[in-house]
Amino acid sequence: MGIDGRLTVAMPKGRIFRDALNLLGEAGLTLPRELVEDSRKLIVEVPGEDLSFLLVKPVDVPTCVEHGAADLGVVGKDVLLEEERDVYELLDLQISPCRLSLAGTTDWQPVLNPKVATKYPRIANRWFRKQGQQVEVICLNGSVELAPLTGLADRIVDIVSTGRTLRENGLVEMEEITRVTSRLIANRASYHLKSRQIGELYERLAQVVKEEGGLQ
Ligand code: PRP
Repeated sequence: MGIDGRLTVAMPKGRIFRDALNLLGEAGLTLPRELVEDSRKLIVEVPGEDLSFLLVKPVDVPTCVEHGAADLGVVGKDVLLEEERDVYELLDLQISPCRLSLAGTTDWQPVLNPKVATKYPRIANRWFRKQGQQVEVICLNGSVELAPLTGLADRIVDIVSTGRTLRENGLVEMEEITRVTSRLIANRASYHLKSRQIGELYERLAQVVKEEGGLQ
């Protein structure tokens, strides 16, 4: 489980990374240079602590945790809802707040069976089914905002944080699907086998979240 008996935490490279690092720093963890600086190392050990970080793509955090490559992970609720992995969700870290929304061009007209581009096919399919709307979901891996501008799709389901990407591409938010913050997740076996180590880190993080309402 994890690497050597150490506690291993999967960290998402990208948008959440800085907020997650700040939170860990606030919780009193010494952050190794390779983690803070731009490094290509994928496994980073914390000196003096029985702790290692795995640096992975956000979408791969729940996979690493479910399969036990990492004991814990930091991941957005959007990815958790999409991936539906068998992991424990331990704590809302209240960092990197954003929302998953339906968006499109201002002159969008309703059509039969509209095409919806997204990185979140499961969430989108579930949401439209609940609305009683039939749509064709088109999966993209990034630059989703391009889809309504190029005729690839009629609308998109994507993350809106500052709203800048939508604005700069002439798109508008139409409906919020769900609010998103980052979560601490745990491998089910590790949660029991490493309960002391996980409990300690959980308490340190929960204390920061409680005191500061997370670091926005
Ligand atoms: C997300 C999302 C938008 C952007 C929204 O992408 O897909 O493109 O952030 O942020 P804004 O409202 O502040 O402009 P992310 O940065 O997660 O990277 P990705 O495109 O590689 O998925």
